[in-house]
Amino acid sequence: MEISQLMNALHLKKNAKIVNRFLGAKIKGKPSQLYDAASHLIETGGKRLRPFMVFKSCRILGGRYSDAIPAAGAVEMIHNFTLVHDDIMDNDDMRHGVPTTHKKFGIPMAILAGDVLFSKAYQVLSKTNLPSKSTTELVSRLAKACVDVCEGQLLDIRLAESKTIPTQSQYIVMISKKTAALFDASCSIGAICAKANRKDITNLSSFGKNLGIAFQITDDLIGVLGDPKVTKKPVGNDLREGKKSLPILLALKKANRKDKKIILRSFGNQKAKKKDIDQALMVIRSLGIEKTVRDQALKYAKKAKKSLNSYSGIAKKELLSLLDFVVNRSL
Ligand code: IPE
Ligand code: IPE
Ligand code: MG
Ligand code: MG
Repeated sequence: MEISQLMNALHLKKNAKIVNRFLGAKIKGKPSQLYDAASHLIETGGKRLRPFMVFKSCRILGGRYSDAIPAAGAVEMIHNFTLVHDDIMDNDDMRHGVPTTHKKFGIPMAILAGDVLFSKAYQVLSKTNLPSKSTTELVSRLAKACVDVCEGQLLDIRLAESKTIPTQSQYIVMISKKTAALFDASCSIGAICAKANRKDITNLSSFGKNLGIAFQITDDLIGVLGDPKVTKKPVGNDLREGKKSLPILLALKKANRKDKKIILRSFGNQKAKKKDIDQALMVIRSLGIEKTVRDQALKYAKKAKKSLNSYSGIAKKELLSLLDFVVNRSL
């Protein structure tokens, strides 16, 4: 199935419409340039996976869509805050097929754009119609995820700076924090919007966390094997930045001396020429690591699926289709 068909089948677009309307209404004000910068990535694309997970985690437990809208919006604001700052840290010029926020508006404005998204997220989250105990828990879960993202992003930078090749478990800890924490929060927040009990919150949290790990493993694969025309972000940047992503770790392990030399010529080399990066990417592709990486993603997808064993209904089906999309995607 084509990616766009899959996205339609998942009703990602329908859900995106609801959250887009909410975001459009909240991310505005003066000076207008600040809000233009804050809405830049949101308006130029994005799959809205996390709001989808908020909505469906709420529905699977019998909650109402309308109760989950502010939380879905808040999670998407936090996600975009992390993207704006991540692109500064990763030196990335393009996302969604357009210049990144700092490339278009400059670094000071991009830092503020991220900060305003972060702050607005909590502002909207504190104004739900839910009982105040639930609202406190929403805020606390989202704050915990943000702390995890900061810790994970620093681990990502530290690993990139280090000359040693990390173990797979160090890599998993890093992506659990930088990426899976927000997926985990999205699902637990959705459950809280449905006024769920502890057991259900734990199940949804575990689903989100394992889906998030599978998502980042697949994302890292796309980062070396993907088609920039589809992903609308550059391929090979992880290599140039010395990112210790799973496919790169496996490639370095599997490469013979000659191939390793070709990979290492560009790895972590900010001045690497495009032709050297392309050659390194070709070598990585030829090493046949794709199946091993996809199998790892599938392992976490299986764990995620298990967390939903005790549920049934349409929302469960939709969450499982999303899981399928996450591990099979090329976008
Ligand atoms: C990108 O996430 C950042 C990662 C955690 C890898 P998405 O791929 O969900 O970002 P958009 O919003 O759809 O662009
Ligand atoms: C995504 O990290 C995690 C966050 C944005 C917090 P990456 O740096 O791996 O994601 P992309 O490739 O820029 O989307
Ligand atoms: Mg990064
Ligand atoms: Mg990045």
